[in-house]
Amino acid sequence: MKNFQFNRLMAVWLIFIIGFAPLCAQKAELIGEKMVMFTPINFDGKAHLPSFALENEPQVIGEKPKEWQINVEFAEAFDRSIAYLPLDVNIDLYGTGEVTGPLLRNGTTRKLWNMDNYAYERDRGQKLYQSHPWVLGVRQDGTSFGVLADNTWRSEISLGEGITFTSDSKPFRVIVIERDTPQEVMQALAHLTGKMPLPPLWSLGFQQCRWSYFPDSRVREIADTLRYKEIPCDVIWMDIHYMDGYRVFTFSPQDFPDPKSTNDYLHSKGFKAVWMIDPGVKNEAGYQVFDSGEKENVWIKDKDGNNYVGNVWPGPCVFPDFTQPKTQKWWAGLYLDFMKTGIDGVWNDMNEPAVFNGFEMTMPRDNVHFGGGGLEKDIHLRYHNVYGMLMVKSSREGIMKVNPDKRPFILSRSNFLGGHRYAATWTGDNESTWEHLRMSIPMSINLGLSGQPFNGPDIGGFAENATPDLFGHWIAVGAFYPFCRAHSILDSKAHEPWAFGEKIESVSRIALNRRYRLMPYIYTKFYEASTTGLPVMQPLFFADLKDYDLRKEDQVFLLGGDLMVIPKWAENPVLPKGNWRTLSLVGEDSEKDQYQPDLKIRPGAIVPCSKVIQNTTEYSLENLDLYISLDEQGKASGSLYHDAGDGYGYKEGDFSLIRFTAELTGNKLIIRIGDQKGGRQLGVKKLIVHLVNDNKTVQRGVRFSKTMKIDL
Ligand code: GLC
Repeated sequence: MKNFQFNRLMAVWLIFIIGFAPLCAQKAELIGEKMVMFTPINFDGKAHLPSFALENEPQVIGEKPKEWQINVEFAEAFDRSIAYLPLDVNIDLYGTGEVTGPLLRNGTTRKLWNMDNYAYERDRGQKLYQSHPWVLGVRQDGTSFGVLADNTWRSEISLGEGITFTSDSKPFRVIVIERDTPQEVMQALAHLTGKMPLPPLWSLGFQQCRWSYFPDSRVREIADTLRYKEIPCDVIWMDIHYMDGYRVFTFSPQDFPDPKSTNDYLHSKGFKAVWMIDPGVKNEAGYQVFDSGEKENVWIKDKDGNNYVGNVWPGPCVFPDFTQPKTQKWWAGLYLDFMKTGIDGVWNDMNEPAVFNGFEMTMPRDNVHFGGGGLEKDIHLRYHNVYGMLMVKSSREGIMKVNPDKRPFILSRSNFLGGHRYAATWTGDNESTWEHLRMSIPMSINLGLSGQPFNGPDIGGFAENATPDLFGHWIAVGAFYPFCRAHSILDSKAHEPWAFGEKIESVSRIALNRRYRLMPYIYTKFYEASTTGLPVMQPLFFADLKDYDLRKEDQVFLLGGDLMVIPKWAENPVLPKGNWRTLSLVGEDSEKDQYQPDLKIRPGAIVPCSKVIQNTTEYSLENLDLYISLDEQGKASGSLYHDAGDGYGYKEGDFSLIRFTAELTGNKLIIRIGDQKGGRQLGVKKLIVHLVNDNKTVQRGVRFSKTMKIDL
């Protein structure tokens, strides 16, 4: 009923608009295989170019093919531009970035205006921290298309009987991609927007965060406790209390007098350290960052040409105008001394930008950005949605200059379509409630379906206090998010895995042991995401595009294409057909376990695992396990990617990518290793093959070689 009303309203609105506003003429050009760019005839490149979402300006290679299904109608009304794409019925719509609500987006409206939205309370969660003007459409037969509005200005996406982008901008371009499957659409999107650079291996481990661990002794205590309790973890996070009065790029003389020694200590225990940097710079003469920025004249101005000042954590702040090349350079340079303290990764937060005393928690729309280096001078309304993206781009450049031999890791709260080129993301300030735990799955999947593979929510929930039961369920599922970090708000009760009693401590340990066992598989899936654009966390319907019943399922999800994660709290989940078999990784019986999601392997898959480790400095393939689940033909295949885990040696051939196949002939299981790409040794000393059967798993130790035969 709700959808029906919505669709009628949309239709009335469109008839009204189109009735009053003449449809604009357009060009429709082929810019790649089955990829058409629709450009309104009055398109003004000065208002939109260069594109932020697209990695390169598209090259026209021909005309729109004759049999083209998805077309765009452009219109203008009341200073707003509209692109409307009529659709056939029975098309399932996904994507639209970071969203609350169900996986299936039909009948929803998403506002694209990045917003600091605590507990997703404001505007009924329709505006969150990031904007992705992108929709994925999947037809009943599985053929799919993607629609990208190449526009950074304040906009909205309405998904009714068609797709409507309405924007405060001048007319904008729309790109439509046609493919046979949604997976192929995602790869085509990555072709346009660029791919996620391969992250360092450590960033795929578990990460422990809180607002805030301080002083330095508390950080050490958390690190020691994780090791003492044997809860695997790779990263400890430093939130704003490490700073001197919330001044960015400073350290509290009382609480963190020697950050290098904090980092050295963490490193000695096998941890990495991620420290926070916000964009707001305290408006205070005498503070070095402010003074140097003032000297370079890097701040965003108000409409009268004065420094714009708005309140964030340190009180009144000025904000770097990242559209200016000189600001980008200045900002990047600030990371030099900062990173030299041994910091491994950076957390860029509050970069919508959040302004506590501003309308809609941000700065005025008529503030001025000066641009340069190809970017036009323009108002905040145009650059707001890419403020976070520009910030992380500059941060990344700065970090890479200091540590040219390491892969940078940046986590950003705000971002824009294509921003996966610079940073991973988390879904901001969620809440310790069942509703938010449930919602985290479709949120992460839709972010993945919008081109951001490296994402996840705060495990345990940020706002409020988690109950032991909620935390247990959250970390049990959270072990399978692409980005796996527990975090909690200031003044909440302790939220570490041991803070909820022995039972939940054990639940957490088992959950994280499962993740670390799967590290070779997870790393391989990240490698694939970085080379193909496929999401790491995938919707269940990817398992069988012909099974229409799976299209709405958003409790159960896929990790890569080969593992299915069924949370314990999933109510009447719709599961794919075929014999997906339960996988036990650390002795757990996940079918019966109260907390651990049931983990199932796809028939026909081979999943590589290594032994449980406490952090990825211990990672190796010395002990390799291959979990094999044969399909109906008695066959299976899988792959394994391996490299140094950090640095760029892999670009020079210091990696290996191998493909395994397995086949049952008689009572012999034959496993073959196909051609190896890259020259790095895997270093396997002990291989155990686990043939996952319906009732029990058969395990055999074998010598690792090109062809391995196992008598069953
Ligand atoms: C914001 C972030 C949160 C962080 C807090 C303090 O609310 O979303 O993760 O802990 O600021 O820095």
